Amino acid sequence: MTWPACATEPAETPPQPELLPRLGRDGSFSLYSCGCDEGFHNASGALREAQEKFVVPAALERFPPGRQLLVAEVAVGTGTNTAAFLAATAAAGLELDWWGLELDQRPLALALADAGFRAQWPAGVIERLERLGNGPRLWLGDARRRLPELLATQAGRCDLVLLDAFSPTRCPQLWSREFLERLVGLLRPDGRLITYSSAAAVRRCLLDLGLEVQAIRPSGGGSGRWSAGTVASPTPLETHPALRPLEDFEREHLASRAGLPYRDPSGAGSAAEILERRRREQEHSPAPPGKLRRPADPDGLGRSEGHR
Ligand SMILES: C[S@@+](CC[C@H](N)C(=O)[O-])C[C@H]1O[C@@H](n2cnc3c(N)ncnc32)[C@H](O)[C@@H]1O
Repeated sequence: MTWPACATEPAETPPQPELLPRLGRDGSFSLYSCGCDEGFHNASGALREAQEKFVVPAALERFPPGRQLLVAEVAVGTGTNTAAFLAATAAAGLELDWWGLELDQRPLALALADAGFRAQWPAGVIERLERLGNGPRLWLGDARRRLPELLATQAGRCDLVLLDAFSPTRCPQLWSREFLERLVGLLRPDGRLITYSSAAAVRRCLLDLGLEVQAIRPSGGGSGRWSAGTVASPTPLETHPALRPLEDFEREHLASRAGLPYRDPSGAGSAAEILERRRREQEHSPAPPGKLRRPADPDGLGRSEGHR
């Protein structure tokens, strides 16, 4: 006898794409997503990226010791950025009030089960990461669906919003104008949205939303024109050695077709639908084609728009 399929749930869970462990050049733990055909971090390593692209641009030194920092993290993955903020806020004497959005429970579980990952952090950080990973502040599911729920209580309250999704061409769902607008809604007036992405479509959206946008300088030096990511804030950003204003060539690029946003009006579009919509809009746009000549990549990591 066969049982009828349940009316409300799929008959079977689709197989999840494989996640392969890999090490960065700094020896830190990372994963490769076969489904997205992209790494969770670039070749330099998860730890280096967490510091260079998230912790340093957050400029925690702005906050007096004892201050509670409200942080919303989109795409928690292995929890490397979370652990880096747990360690950095503890070192700065700050309290961390954290919320995380993530589709897949496996990356954090794989990281926490890896001896190398655990050895990267003090025992206290691992304990707190385990508690966060099993606690009510990690919201599982599509971040597009969970974000409005987070906004219901945290709109206008976050000091930091960290966006570390797969790159825009792989996961445009988390880089659309609609999603970015909601994310920005989480920020306090002096809050910061921080991402590794330097994509023109992302930066232009943030500018159009009225934020000041600056580039993150790569920690390894290299060409001053190279960017390691983007910081955006509703209020002017203080001068900081890790940040620089956008240069003229970058602003010109934003005005090209490359700056046309990813659009996801329903908040439920597939990657293919969102990419195809943008391709059609670019095809019919009167804007000049994007022809940014990227300066040489100092680290040979092969990304700035996002591929890892
Ligand atoms: C580049 S990895 C995150 C790297 C992470 N910050 C770390 O340190 O490991 C991207 C993450 O986005 C998650 N993701 C993909 N689509 C998502 C969605 N629609 N909503 C929430 N998370 C999503 C993936 O499961 C993956 O863990």
